[in-house]
Amino acid sequence: MKSIKRALCCISMLAAQAALAAPEVAVTVDVAKPGAVINKNVYGQFAEHLGTGIYGGMWVGPESKTPNVKGWRKDVLDALKDLRVPVVRWPGGCFADEYDWRDGIGPRGKRPVMVNTNWGNVVDNNAVGTHEFFDLIELIGADAYVNGNVATGSPRETAQWLEYMTGEGQSELARLRAQNGRAKPFKVAFFGIGNENWGCGGNMTAAYFTNLYNHHATFAHATGAQATKLIAGGGLDGNVDWTDYLSRNIRAPASAISLHYYTVPGRGSSSKGPATGFGEDQWISALKDALHMGELLASNVAKLEQNDPQKKLTLAVDEWGTWYEPTPGTPPRFLQQQNSLRDALVAALHFHIFHAHADRVSMANIAQMVNVLQAMILTEGKTMLLTPTYHAFRMHVPFQDAVSLPVKLDNNQQYSLGSVGIPLLSASAARGKDGRLYLSLVNTSPKDAVAVSIALAGAVVKSASGSMLTAATMDAHNSFASPKAVLPTPFQAQADHGKLSITLPPKAVAVVSVNE
Ligand code: AHR
Repeated sequence: MKSIKRALCCISMLAAQAALAAPEVAVTVDVAKPGAVINKNVYGQFAEHLGTGIYGGMWVGPESKTPNVKGWRKDVLDALKDLRVPVVRWPGGCFADEYDWRDGIGPRGKRPVMVNTNWGNVVDNNAVGTHEFFDLIELIGADAYVNGNVATGSPRETAQWLEYMTGEGQSELARLRAQNGRAKPFKVAFFGIGNENWGCGGNMTAAYFTNLYNHHATFAHATGAQATKLIAGGGLDGNVDWTDYLSRNIRAPASAISLHYYTVPGRGSSSKGPATGFGEDQWISALKDALHMGELLASNVAKLEQNDPQKKLTLAVDEWGTWYEPTPGTPPRFLQQQNSLRDALVAALHFHIFHAHADRVSMANIAQMVNVLQAMILTEGKTMLLTPTYHAFRMHVPFQDAVSLPVKLDNNQQYSLGSVGIPLLSASAARGKDGRLYLSLVNTSPKDAVAVSIALAGAVVKSASGSMLTAATMDAHNSFASPKAVLPTPFQAQADHGKLSITLPPKAVAVVSVNE
């Protein structure tokens, strides 16, 4: 008992010392100037037939001894429900570029087996197909984003898959769907035409792909009462040519152009860098690489402003997240990696960037939901754990469909290591659907605390409560031996003379609900 008291006393002394020494940043939220609505779909997910992302990680089959609902793991479903996942993209990725939807319908035991050539040449028995995907979507209350196949599929296949999913009444394919157990049409909120067609999706030029887009999209009719939104496969990283070319030449219906960008700390070197056990150089390089998303969105949005001033098109960042060297001992093409506090900061910085572009970014899908790249959930046999990224997503749920608000930062400093520097504090604010004011804060420094004073323009701040995610080390993570090592903790703050003061410890993400 004595030693606990002594430790607590030391912690509060350290916190007090940190607060004394901490640089002070003033944050002002202008509540009188509401901006664009943050589409809830920027908190979207991506689940591909890749490694144990679906098979094992989520799907165990209805006959499994692992508790499941319609074949989907119950523990994973419950965690995803708590996350309020708004939309899930499926079945790929590069996998979609080879997928034949007809392989994934009908009695499971009779479905053809395919070799997943992109992801380790493993056999996929097609146990998860269209019906199983929609079971998942309906069980977690999300919208479906089905990615079609332009790379090796025909416009007829696109048309027929959509007809199978959405057709009503007299259609032959609607009858086939009913025969396979589903009379009512599935709701296809989004349908993707193309995936990385500059690379794994066919090594095409933007011009060639745009013709294919127009060809497929012309026949991509969702039948019945549905208004399925079409998303055009787009470009990568700093290359705005695809956004530019597509936005000037799309003739068929389209709601968004996709963009893919991954955070790679070892960018430009032979190793992407490890997920844990890294030094401060890899900490700052990952966060800097993540912040590059802001520049990419700015340049792509500028192209849209130029080519589509009526704002008919938006951007769907339908693949983003950290990509490290795979966990040693795992199959390299399974893209399995640990997930640390650093990933939570990478996620929160992305959220701030998506909020800042709320008027043009209509969707973002982190890669990927379970066991692959920057995952929410890791599984091992029958057990599962929630990653720091999961907690970052959970903390930001109030930002889904919230109205963005301008935030001004005074006296923000740089956090630097050698010649590399990034802003010390990142902040984003919004008015939630519940009418409350929310503020998200990130302290990027792994060494220094930041004293944040918060004031409102257009209202008076009274108090605040929230949750904070931090840990003792940069690579702190949850493991199966210690699944709760990184968890958000609650905190409260009282305003003094119309200002709130919150000390953010080093390497922290906080979401604050402000009482006005
Ligand atoms: O998310 C993993 C892969 O990354 C996707 O299949 C592909 O689209 C991208 O290159």
